[in-house]
Amino acid sequence: EAELLHTFKGIPFTTRSSPELLKSLDTFDAREDDVLLVSYPKSGTHWLAGVLAKLYNTQVTITSPIEFGDISRLEELNKLSSKRIIPTHLDYNMLPPNFKKKKCKMIYISRNPKDTAVSMFHYYRDNPNLPTVDTWTAFFDLFLKGNVVCGSWFDHFLSWEEHEDENNILFLFYEDMKKVVKEICLFLSLNVSDNDIQDICRKSSFLEMKNDTEKENSDPSHTVCALTSNRKLIFRKGAVGDWKNYFTPKQNIRFQEIFNEKMKLSKMADSFIY
Ligand code: PPS
Repeated sequence: EAELLHTFKGIPFTTRSSPELLKSLDTFDAREDDVLLVSYPKSGTHWLAGVLAKLYNTQVTITSPIEFGDISRLEELNKLSSKRIIPTHLDYNMLPPNFKKKKCKMIYISRNPKDTAVSMFHYYRDNPNLPTVDTWTAFFDLFLKGNVVCGSWFDHFLSWEEHEDENNILFLFYEDMKKVVKEICLFLSLNVSDNDIQDICRKSSFLEMKNDTEKENSDPSHTVCALTSNRKLIFRKGAVGDWKNYFTPKQNIRFQEIFNEKMKLSKMADSFIY
């Protein structure tokens, strides 16, 4: 149970991320046309992967997060012949430096941390690859302390926000996702018609993606999270504001105090009002 997580550079990782692989990320070779899909867990990674898969129309490989696996995985990534879309839950500081040097395009998707916390609570409860948490109250404390897989939401977000003005990084919010497909196309220089964009948005709705089991083997987005291949664990509820069903008024005050303090220098703090 306890050995389901280990710590690397102060951040909890699951045993699916081997220490050797984490160490080798420093020398990982990036390609100029790599696209990184960056998120703190439970922020809309699968939604965005699904949209990108549809936009690129299978001309790309969407890998599982770069920090998952043993060291041999990096070799496999090196050998991929197609364009790569590489998800990652790493803090900016832990990102393989070659992605930064080559100015690869990176899309950072974030979500109100309160909803993220609730989503992660269910994921912890339902996923045998994660430590057991008995109650929402216990998980709430772990989340605020950053004592969860991938560490503190605040540290993650702020480490990326520091690079907000770099034009190879696009910031997206889960809550806006319905209107962002057009923005993604512009950013990635993809020529997609308005009709196709509408179609992609429709097919990327929570219900459509949740029910999209038929195509499970052809849709690379179903493998984005290496901790499960069970889509039911990922497509849980897909709502904005579900945190209100879990946070007690007292927890909300405590969360908000920490949020206000940690985020006082953040220019994007108002994006998480929902
Ligand atoms: S993971 O495991 O970190 O990769 O999870 P991630 O995909 O980032 O987040 C899972 C949450 O996103 C919701 N989801 C969606 N919401 C709306 N529309 C679509 N298409 C969609 N796809 C996934 C999913 O239900 C999880 O949120 P919760 O609140 O738990 O339902």
